[in-house]
Amino acid sequence: MKQRMDILDCSKSSDYDRAKELKSFDDTKAGVKGLVDAGIVKIPRIFIRPDDELAEELTTHQSNFQVPIVDLDGIRGDRLQKIVDQIRDASETWGLFQVVNHGIPLDVLEKMLDGARKFHDLDLEVKKELYSRDPKRNIRFYSNMDLYQSRTANWRDTFAISTLASKPFDPTEIPEVCRDSSMEYIKNVSKLGNTLFELLSMALGLKPQHLKEMGCTEGFNIGCHYYPPCPAPDLTLGTTKHSDPSFLTILSQDQIGGLQVFHENQWVDVHPIAGGLVINIGDFLQVISNNKFKSVDHRVVASGSVSRISVPCFFTGHATETPKLYGPIKELTSEENPPVYRDFLISEYLSSYFSGAVGDKSVLYQFKL
Ligand code: OGA
Ligand code: NI
Repeated sequence: MKQRMDILDCSKSSDYDRAKELKSFDDTKAGVKGLVDAGIVKIPRIFIRPDDELAEELTTHQSNFQVPIVDLDGIRGDRLQKIVDQIRDASETWGLFQVVNHGIPLDVLEKMLDGARKFHDLDLEVKKELYSRDPKRNIRFYSNMDLYQSRTANWRDTFAISTLASKPFDPTEIPEVCRDSSMEYIKNVSKLGNTLFELLSMALGLKPQHLKEMGCTEGFNIGCHYYPPCPAPDLTLGTTKHSDPSFLTILSQDQIGGLQVFHENQWVDVHPIAGGLVINIGDFLQVISNNKFKSVDHRVVASGSVSRISVPCFFTGHATETPKLYGPIKELTSEENPPVYRDFLISEYLSSYFSGAVGDKSVLYQFKL
């Protein structure tokens, strides 16, 4: 009887008006930083992970794996083949690696991270103007894209710059505190994206321009994430486990750490490297490579004492241009290795991804043959 009472009590404690609390958080338009700035000492229930997830966390142990690091120095010379081999290996076994000597100057990276921080430090009244859940807006501020769909809200706010919306992207919509740094970063990250898609094409045994000719380098979406310090970091997450809705993601992070990648059933820390960038394969590249490259799950743990900034650039390809179908690349399939996925439209994939909770793997499975 006692045991049964406990169960009942337990179910009762989680019985609160979640929808209402989500809405009132959303209505503040101040994000998680707004809560922290207001001096909260307890995290609201909408951010607390369910007991089953918290219990699972206790059984996972620290891993000694090291995320691969690829040095891109000498790419136009005799190291090219070695670099291509390392990228192939990392993309097949990890789906994520770090690059150094990638050609983006350190001050461009630092100014981007600094600009992102300055955005989040802006006056709330200015940020509120940009607060929106409308994916058709190129420039917007929000907290938790999937706020109303996810099991648990993440301890994170985002400022996003996107070229996926229907109207052309207008740089003057970016607040001045981060406009120049963002534009300079976009120029550099697009160039690096081109290089990486060449290397990935070669790693797949295709001609260097193959992925570019498919449109993989077109269309991007940049997130400037701000992870405020959290009063109860063990009860929530900065970012829930997910894989990315992109061909490829290039992520710049500050030196705080917290990003983890799921490798061989363990969470492995992606330790920040000064001047380095994190590269991960997204769902679309897993599909078109017919599962040769892995779109790996990753997440961000919350931090107790300090805030963290990260800036992912998602290469998403054509989303609003003339509809273009993507599926496993013909050259990569054969009778012994038939296509695993059907052809799909990027817009179809993205609307499915963004209509549910981020990290819900069923999106990728929907496209399985
Ligand atoms: C993402 C993501 C990781 C990070 O935005 O998809 O995985 O370190 N971000 O912020
Ligand atoms: Ni991600």
